[in-house]
Amino acid sequence: MLKIDGNFRNKHILSVEQFTKSDITKVLNETNHMKRLVKTKGGNRRLQGKIMTALFYEPSSRTFSSHIAAMQRLGGGVIPIHGTQNSSVKKGETLEDTVRVFGSYSDVIVIRHPEKGSVEKAASFSKVPVINAGDGVGEHPTQALLDLYTISSYFNLDRKVTIAMVGDLKYGRTIHSLSKLLSLFPEVTLLYVSPKSLKVPQKILDYVSEREILFEEISSFKEAIKRADVLYMTRVQKERFKTMASYNKVKDAYILNPVRLVSAKQKMIIMHPLPRINEISTEVDLDPRAVYFTDQMQNGMYVRMALLKLILG
Ligand code: CP
Repeated sequence: MLKIDGNFRNKHILSVEQFTKSDITKVLNETNHMKRLVKTKGGNRRLQGKIMTALFYEPSSRTFSSHIAAMQRLGGGVIPIHGTQNSSVKKGETLEDTVRVFGSYSDVIVIRHPEKGSVEKAASFSKVPVINAGDGVGEHPTQALLDLYTISSYFNLDRKVTIAMVGDLKYGRTIHSLSKLLSLFPEVTLLYVSPKSLKVPQKILDYVSEREILFEEISSFKEAIKRADVLYMTRVQKERFKTMASYNKVKDAYILNPVRLVSAKQKMIIMHPLPRINEISTEVDLDPRAVYFTDQMQNGMYVRMALLKLILG
């Protein structure tokens, strides 16, 4: 997997492992420009003449539409393929061949696919850059970048910051990517809170500990809420379970509500990659510390504008 090393042009974005801290700074700075651009002018024509294919084999609201909005705000065109029902995938066309098709019509392909590793494989057949929009239980690098941008707009990540990740840490690709990305910041402490059957994979723990990041696996939600500067809630992903019984056993393990938040810090923030099912009660949405429907979700579009500009601009 090609490292970014300061040069995004025509590179695939497959994993957060491609980024150095200086690459991250570049993305965050560019994201600031994009946010200002949208707020003042709505967009520009920087990517006029470029086309992005959004090829989504799995459902998505945010990642799909924010990539499209990002491309359009920069003056580019889009080929939206949402689901496999109406494309030749339905007739049995392989991912490799599908990538060859859309690479002939567009300048970048954004892919979401249910199989871990599939997007990297697709990229190896692509003559245009590929952006990983989530590969099964693997990674979700653009989500991690928008999460990092959101966190860094509230906290200086070069100082001590405690980030609690709660819920489905086994299948949650956002957790995997964000943990790796936060490993670039030595002052960060990670608290992992999950049911036993949904613990964060050992591979991620090894990655984090090799980089000497402090982390703890704890079972007490109460303790995590009390200690967290960032409380990152996640959905238990029904679609990843083999049986309903195993899903039902853990689906309500951690539910955040205003009563639970009584012991939380005044200056903490609550994040969630969304969609939310029941793990955050709707009353929490009104709490000023809840940023999932405000900054976090909107930042997705700004970060994706920044990436598209850096790759294609
Ligand atoms: N956060 C996220 O990936 O949301 P979608 O599944 O709606 O794209």
